[in-house]
Amino acid sequence: MRDFDENNITAAVIDRFQNTPDPRLKRIMTSLVRHLHDFVRDVDLTEAEWAQAIAFLTRTGHTCTDKRQEFILLSDTLGVSMLVDAINHRFSKNATETTVLGPFYVENPPEAALGANIGVGVKGEPLYLDGSILSEDGQPLANAEIDVWHSDTEGFYDVQLPDLSEPSLRARFHSDAQGRFRFWTILPRYYPIPYDGPVGDMLTATARHPYRPAHVHFMISADGHEKLVTHLFVSGDQYLDSDAVFAVKNSLIRDFERQAPGVAPDGKKMDTPWRKLHNDFVLAKAVAKKSVPAA
Ligand code: BEZ
Ligand code: FE
Repeated sequence: MRDFDENNITAAVIDRFQNTPDPRLKRIMTSLVRHLHDFVRDVDLTEAEWAQAIAFLTRTGHTCTDKRQEFILLSDTLGVSMLVDAINHRFSKNATETTVLGPFYVENPPEAALGANIGVGVKGEPLYLDGSILSEDGQPLANAEIDVWHSDTEGFYDVQLPDLSEPSLRARFHSDAQGRFRFWTILPRYYPIPYDGPVGDMLTATARHPYRPAHVHFMISADGHEKLVTHLFVSGDQYLDSDAVFAVKNSLIRDFERQAPGVAPDGKKMDTPWRKLHNDFVLAKAVAKKSVPAA
């Protein structure tokens, strides 16, 4: 067939994928072509705009390094990360809700003992965080793997600080026999996502701000349960209703309680004001992965 025009080219391209052996890939490519062509027709895309889009995506790729993932940032700021998250975590509402991973997770963070301070030498208000890892029926989950990471009070993660040679404000804990965990850190503050690249240019061009409300990240794994990727957000933060990456859920907002100088739950004597948060995490039972229907 020849002589394609704006009305018949979509069917012709879809037809070219007819022999795709993997039914899932066939379904994805078919839908991608349909929606992409509809988008081009919908906005009457000019050649200059398409060239600009390709230049933008090229710059997005060139901005990626082993420390920076601009494509994840683009997915986050377009709400795609949260949409994928929502579709893939249709668990019971008894389980702790999920939210975005973000680009600052580092595989295999340093192992830390329960009670350790993961913010030694970092300026900020001390925070004592403890709680339990539970199954939906309330059973404590022993030896759960708990990865924690968050930014400093200036809004930077350790991986963004070139002068820092050691991981900071990140660690891996394991829950004890009663499913409990505890550690010291500092209270995080709101911060901007990296906006000195193409994603930042997109935010500026569309009059959007780059800020995320203050939060602590968790990734929790336990045998027989779904992996939980989530945050706990600090209540009262000015960006809770306009998170640049659409990741706030009401069920994840917490009062990080102000404490006067005194004795902390682990017996530590505190000379300055500090914060305390007790939080239990509930993991959904592992679900069998269902096969995806073909187109
Ligand atoms: C974060 O919370 O670390 C994050 C999430 C999405 C984009 C940028 C940062
Ligand atoms: Fe974060």
